[in-house]
Amino acid sequence: MIEQSFQAIYGTTPEVVLRAPGRVNLIGEHTDYNDGFVLPAAIDRTIDFAGRKRTDRVVRVNSLDFGAGVEFSLDDIQKDSKNPWSNYIRGVSKYLEEDGYRLSGADIAFGGNVPREAGLSSSAAVEVGTAAFWKNLLHLEVDPVYLVKLARKAENQFVGVPCGIMDQFISALGQENHALFLDCRDLTFRQVPLRGDVKIVVCNSGVRRALAQSEYKVRLEQCRQAVAQIASTGRAVKSLRDVTAADLEAARGVLSEVLFRRARHVVSENGRVLEAVRVLEGGDLERFGELMNASHVSLRDDYEVSSKELDILVELAWKQPGVLGARMTGAGFGGCTVNLVHQEAARAFADAVRRGYQDALDLKAEIYICKASQGALM
Ligand code: GLA
Repeated sequence: MIEQSFQAIYGTTPEVVLRAPGRVNLIGEHTDYNDGFVLPAAIDRTIDFAGRKRTDRVVRVNSLDFGAGVEFSLDDIQKDSKNPWSNYIRGVSKYLEEDGYRLSGADIAFGGNVPREAGLSSSAAVEVGTAAFWKNLLHLEVDPVYLVKLARKAENQFVGVPCGIMDQFISALGQENHALFLDCRDLTFRQVPLRGDVKIVVCNSGVRRALAQSEYKVRLEQCRQAVAQIASTGRAVKSLRDVTAADLEAARGVLSEVLFRRARHVVSENGRVLEAVRVLEGGDLERFGELMNASHVSLRDDYEVSSKELDILVELAWKQPGVLGARMTGAGFGGCTVNLVHQEAARAFADAVRRGYQDALDLKAEIYICKASQGALM
């Protein structure tokens, strides 16, 4: 597909073709920017890139999804407010150049089926896809984790959207039929096998994450304040990762009620991820599902990042036969839920949730039965 589109636009064949996947997070939400633990999987929805070198320093990029093109010089990479979709590509290219990688001009076409603004990390897929494109085109000898960090920097500093490291990491380093257990403090990771007889079902609420960015910043700041206040009681903590349930209880007096609940989410969620990895590796999917459910309750009540639509999708899911666990996934305030469902029940599950959501809110949920897939830098 992407090869044909490239050919149609540029009248020649591409030298490099690759796919960068979106992701769904199984458990470990709002823990990455607290130096904590996450367990995402790359999904079989991807942003695809095709491109070839030019002999000058000009980069031409065509977005198939936006039906638009831009052109920029590698010698002067600026943010583009008219074509914001191009900023992920500009940002990654700019930081590679700044780090001393001399890029070449290129013609690029890209597009795919990761829904935008649905909390499935289409922007991370574009960033990681761009990094992988340059790596493959120019045969760069680089550590994938360096490119992951650079992709995140493009999102944070060039595009200007705050995020942790999870989305770029999994889009780069996901492995087929595995979830990725990542320690966001030291970036050590382990691939955790997913059994084939359960499906990852993603339900898209179709509601845009309107509050997501502003509330995300509020949560970042609340976590920072909670750490400072807990540290003021004499505990040696640098981030919520270092806080135990007992530390938190002991600091209850110095924290406001809201900060206490925010911190309790992060502390309990880190504990849930560690247990989730253990039980997944041990084959106890029932317990894994319970941990997903508990994660949702904690995000809803303590971290307060769920929404009416997400809660309804999750409550509908909990009632279905064959479901092991269900929770909101990603930053929250809209976007998607993630559900672990026995394979034979997955179709009926999707139909029932779609119907229930329509009945409850008169809204259409898109449902994707996903397969854990390979990252762009694997
Ligand atoms: C967004 C961010 C991630 C992570 C999640 C919440 O997806 O991009 O880094 O913080 O929210 O877990």
